[in-house]
Amino acid sequence: MFHILDNPHFWRFFRLIVDTIFSVDKNKRKLLDSLGGSLNLPSNSILDLGCGIGNLSEIFLGEYFGIDMNLKYIQYANKHFLTEKRKFICSNVVDFVIDTHKKFDLVCLFDFAHHLPDDSLFAVLSAANKLSKKYIIIVDPVKDINNTLIIKLINKLDRGKFIRTRSHLTELIKKVGLIIINNPDGNVYLCGHT
Ligand SMILES: C[S@@+](CC[C@H](N)C(=O)[O-])C[C@H]1O[C@@H](n2cnc3c(N)ncnc32)[C@H](O)[C@@H]1O
Repeated sequence: MFHILDNPHFWRFFRLIVDTIFSVDKNKRKLLDSLGGSLNLPSNSILDLGCGIGNLSEIFLGEYFGIDMNLKYIQYANKHFLTEKRKFICSNVVDFVIDTHKKFDLVCLFDFAHHLPDDSLFAVLSAANKLSKKYIIIVDPVKDINNTLIIKLINKLDRGKFIRTRSHLTELIKKVGLIIINNPDGNVYLCGHT
């Protein structure tokens, strides 16, 4: 069923409002800085799973590949954020990670994990473990942190139907064999691969 936020213009507007109120996207840039300077080098390659309209590609200095299954989002990304160093691919992430053999310094899942049920997320994280040369970053809403009424409402409206508790998400990440290096704010995971 079509959801109003599947329209890239509405999605960007919605993101802008949420960002302005909660500093969500702005914090992703800060997050990279706080997690360590070596995460955002011009020489690093980045795979962004569930990249949405591609706006986060702007925070990375290196070669960037964004994957999303929403064709309208990828068309928007190609129109607004395409450069020689950035590529956007329309694909289901679950299929993409099985088919690709390229390796990336950084594999990111920004607000994406809660779009996948446990079995698919397990498969995607296992693949991320193999595709990553250095780090995996997972940022996802969790039920039991910052549980104000407004956050509960935003989570309820979310198109992702699998918002987990912090312990559930942590358990899944560990089950895959990823090593949690840093877990600031409770819903941000910097992981190393095995
Ligand atoms: C909440 S948005 C996050 C977008 C972006 N990462 C951000 O932080 O702004 C989640 C995105 O995941 C995409 N998505 C959901 N399931 C997917 C799947 N199985 N394969 C590829 N993309 C998927 C949606 O189309 C949507 O763009």
